[in-house]
Amino acid sequence: MWGGRFAAGPDAIMEAINASIGFDRRLAAQDIAGSRAHAAMLGATGILDASDVAAIREGLVTVLSEIEAGSFAFRADLEDIHMNVENRLRALIGDAAGRLHTARSRNDQVATDFRLWVRDQCDAGIDGLRALQRALLDQAEAGADWVMPGFTHLQTAQPVTWGHHMMAYVEMLGRDAGRLADARARMNECPLGAAALAGTGFAIDRDMTARALGFERPCANSLDAVSDRDFALEFLAAASICAMHLSRLAEELVIWSSAQFRFVTLSDRFSTGSSIMPQKKNPDAAELIRAKIGRIVGANVALLTVMKGLPLAYSKDMQEDKEQVFDAADTLMLALAAMTGMVADMTADRAALAAAAGAGFSTATDLADWLVREANLPFRDAHHVTGTLVALAEAKGCDLPDLTLDDMRGVHPAITSGVFDVLGVENSVASRMSYGGTAPARVREQIAVWKDRLG
Ligand code: ARG
Repeated sequence: MWGGRFAAGPDAIMEAINASIGFDRRLAAQDIAGSRAHAAMLGATGILDASDVAAIREGLVTVLSEIEAGSFAFRADLEDIHMNVENRLRALIGDAAGRLHTARSRNDQVATDFRLWVRDQCDAGIDGLRALQRALLDQAEAGADWVMPGFTHLQTAQPVTWGHHMMAYVEMLGRDAGRLADARARMNECPLGAAALAGTGFAIDRDMTARALGFERPCANSLDAVSDRDFALEFLAAASICAMHLSRLAEELVIWSSAQFRFVTLSDRFSTGSSIMPQKKNPDAAELIRAKIGRIVGANVALLTVMKGLPLAYSKDMQEDKEQVFDAADTLMLALAAMTGMVADMTADRAALAAAAGAGFSTATDLADWLVREANLPFRDAHHVTGTLVALAEAKGCDLPDLTLDDMRGVHPAITSGVFDVLGVENSVASRMSYGGTAPARVREQIAVWKDRLG
């Protein structure tokens, strides 16, 4: 492809480090779509004549069908997907193939292909997130009023509802989808026509190619168009945050499915056994999702490191962008699918949740609030009185509702039997009616809002 300037071919090691066809063949469909749009534009602007454009169009259809059928012979000596496609096109249609690269460079070509690919991944990620949100919504709806312990520091804090806990993840994943949508909108500008770096002297129509490929507009600066990969970094950053959310949910499922918690039972379909311990049912999918974030964040850091310090415009370093993004995208989609299956299949144990909800003095805050409301104590004093009652219960080896009224009055004389009404976990959650609170009525409102949003 640059034989004119060279007397000798590349060393085998040179070819090995230089070739990207081993991975960038995944850009075949995008590459061919970009070439078709470019050829059509070259025809419309009179840069190529109609017969060449028709030959290129038909040839590209054939190339794509060969690639899809698996009959295409990829060649490492042709370096990358762009040269492999063009070479095959030449074999199919002859000289017209050589005209396709008019007013174009592999630099704007690869930038375009990769944007198209990453844009698709944003859409796929959003779809995957919506599916997981639906699975969580179903869980939330089934147990909107089931009580369970809420934790801080993984110590029992206050009772919450199962539905509320599920809906917390629905909110997080909603923001993840929003980040992918934002990244998609920002990346949706077309580099094609930036050529090598400076634009071209041919009278091309960049709006036409941008439109044909579903971009909002052409990139406004040709140097920027070929030399930034911030769109891929934004995808990786959004994917990293999403993977972090998945990892936290996965961690909860690991804890919850343990014999000590028994909050949930994972389905056989999403569990594994042990080769030595017959009783074991392991949450491997959750553990793997918990771990997968390492690859995704790793890809984000790797690409940032590749890009930092690169002078404008294109440098071959940028060929290292693809494998990281491919792996991160594959990993994210797999993690989303596995989490969706696990959540859809899992069974929450209402009784175990309820039993745990009352343990650990989880309604102590309700008692303190009662003292503020009914006995007019300042909150700090109420906190102290309640702390004393917790210590008393702990010493007696019982829970707060098991203390007698005399026990309570011994600590503060203003306490009446009405206090027992707020010590139940059901009362506790039902009282938390503030906007965004855990009361079942509030949770059902949020479920309805999200059902509407997800359609
Ligand atoms: N395979 C290259 C990449 O992935 C395509 C662009 C090559 N451009 C160049 N000037 N060598 O980045």
